[in-house]
Amino acid sequence: MKLAIFASGQGSNAQVLIEQAQAGTLGATIEILISDQLQAGALANAQQAGIEARAFSPKAFADKHAYEQAVLACLREHQVDALILAGYMRLIGPTLLAAYPERIINTHPSLLPAFPGKDAVGQALAAHATHAGVTVHYIDAGMDTGPIIAQQRVKVMPHDDHDTLTARIKAAEHALYPACVHDLMTVWSRSQ
Ligand code: GRF
Repeated sequence: MKLAIFASGQGSNAQVLIEQAQAGTLGATIEILISDQLQAGALANAQQAGIEARAFSPKAFADKHAYEQAVLACLREHQVDALILAGYMRLIGPTLLAAYPERIINTHPSLLPAFPGKDAVGQALAAHATHAGVTVHYIDAGMDTGPIIAQQRVKVMPHDDHDTLTARIKAAEHALYPACVHDLMTVWSRSQ
């Protein structure tokens, strides 16, 4: 299968996915990395790995539909089968949802339904949660509400601050997310 990664930031998850795809252990190819941020570190990292990277600034379009239409044209040009969100800080709208039903997944740094939305790590620390975690889930029209594919607990240590907890959560994500993508490739390719 042919995948597109969507990332808005540094893209450490994107990087791991690209490395595994190139090593042949993901069971899919990464055709393109798409960002909504012109300066996203993920764009440069992807290019360095020889992956095409495209930025679309939502501000340059009349509305979300027009923005997603442009993104969709690019995805179709690259014959992309599924979308892998990795730190993409924007809700997926009806245009992309309709084009990729049950073919868009995300990783979120909490045990959903706990701490959805922005700064899940900060939310967990503020709530004095004993456990944080990672959730890989399908995307639907809501904010971090789609069906859950896999979860992993990450213990919150007494000395944890935002940086240390984020680092441990990301380490867990870097193993769980590619493993989920790999497993889904078998499931999805059967129903193609
Ligand atoms: C990850 O923690 C992911 O769960 C969340 O955004 C973060 C992106 O990190 N959706 P990175 O850009 O992949 O390092």
